[in-house]
Amino acid sequence: MAKTKTSFFCQNCGAQSAKWIGKCPNCNEWNTYVEEVIQKEQSHSKQAYSITSDKPHLISDIVPGNTLRFPLPDKELNRVLGGGLVQGSLVLFGGEPGIGKSTLLLQIALSASDLKVLYVSGEESQEQLRMRAERIGINNKNCYILTETTIQNIFQQLEQIQPQLLVIDSIQTLYTNLIDSAPGSISQIRQCTADLMRYAKTTQVPVFIIGHITKDGSIAGPKVLEHMVDTVLQFEGDTHHIYRLLRTTKNRFGSTNELGIYEMTGTGLREVSNPSEVLITAREEPVSGVAIAAITEGVRPLMIETQALVSTAAYGTPQRSSTGYDLRRLSMLLAVLEKRCGFRLGSKDVFLNIAGGIKVEDPATDLAIVTAILSSGEEVPISPRYCFAGEIGLSGEIRPVNRIDQRISEAEKMGFEQIFISKYNKKEIPKTSHIKVQTVGKMEEFFSKLFG
Ligand code: TYD
Ligand code: MG
Repeated sequence: MAKTKTSFFCQNCGAQSAKWIGKCPNCNEWNTYVEEVIQKEQSHSKQAYSITSDKPHLISDIVPGNTLRFPLPDKELNRVLGGGLVQGSLVLFGGEPGIGKSTLLLQIALSASDLKVLYVSGEESQEQLRMRAERIGINNKNCYILTETTIQNIFQQLEQIQPQLLVIDSIQTLYTNLIDSAPGSISQIRQCTADLMRYAKTTQVPVFIIGHITKDGSIAGPKVLEHMVDTVLQFEGDTHHIYRLLRTTKNRFGSTNELGIYEMTGTGLREVSNPSEVLITAREEPVSGVAIAAITEGVRPLMIETQALVSTAAYGTPQRSSTGYDLRRLSMLLAVLEKRCGFRLGSKDVFLNIAGGIKVEDPATDLAIVTAILSSGEEVPISPRYCFAGEIGLSGEIRPVNRIDQRISEAEKMGFEQIFISKYNKKEIPKTSHIKVQTVGKMEEFFSKLFG
């Protein structure tokens, strides 16, 4: 009889321990260890997918550049993958529930009509998937659907169908009968991913794995999953808004700086090729409390609207609230305005919002945010033809930001008249730009130039 072995796994980071411990020594989380049964493999038991062993080769003998990429029928996805999907690559596609992961990948599976695609779903029934496909409105004769969760059965079907692209929805529902623990547990996830990895590498079929994300933003279950795969894509956004961002957090075949933007419509996800246009509200009249920031997300320049509302605090303690921007950074900006520029904001409520439900991390947004705050506080509208790109230092100086040439050309392309940047960025201003570039060094100088 096969011996049964159990072990304890941290459900957060995947660390293993022979006995139960309260605090994980690896990730410092409390109460995350769960006992999982790892059935000892019998000597005859077959691996889910067997491989032939390889011999070592001299690195100089290996022919470079034979990673074959094929473009998918989705420009945004190609961009984040670094120019197309690499054969034999394993791509983890993470995102919160309801964000549109299944929709996007089903859409890819349906529109890649020259590829034979197998979409394996452990979450929805065939009928549900068919309904979704009808909603998306694309018909593909080469797209197969399999509702199965046991990995051994999936591999059997794979041998028969021999697809050219495989989608697994989702890794948390997969189950291997080599291990006794429940689907979604660390050892199951790890084993199934390893099997899929081996399948991808031996057959050169690219595999997309959908993974759910926990509240704190990590892929549910283990970090180990992220180490094993070639590429990690994150699908994010606010489910109440229509825009979704696709980012790479790891890519063995390209840069992690790319960003894809989609819009959720009634008929699936639509690529947004000119994001700056949709993220700015077209207004006839200038309104107070609004300023446009020229930011970059990775390597992609974007024009985005920052909105602020400053009002006298109704209750004792003034409120500070921020949507889409770091609250601590907002507090810092308010302190700089108060201490360095003499604006009295101590008794005011300040609300900040980044339009479109998008989260911004680029510190170059600072300059637009202070402009929006002052514009609201002083009730002076800012011309909608001005935009801003600069980081604000603690002493009130306007610091340079990266990729200023791209920001300037995006602003010019979008028809802005003036862009305000740090004077330390002066050298990098493209000679050919037609937009008026205002360079400023200190906040006082900035205000006098802006309000004249
Ligand atoms: P879904 O792909 O099921 O999310 P996930 O797999 O990430 O959990 O998408 C869920 C949401 O998308 C759902 O609330 C409905 C919405 N949706 C649309 O708005 N338009 C569409 O065409 C489709 C298919 C879904
Ligand atoms: Mg889903």
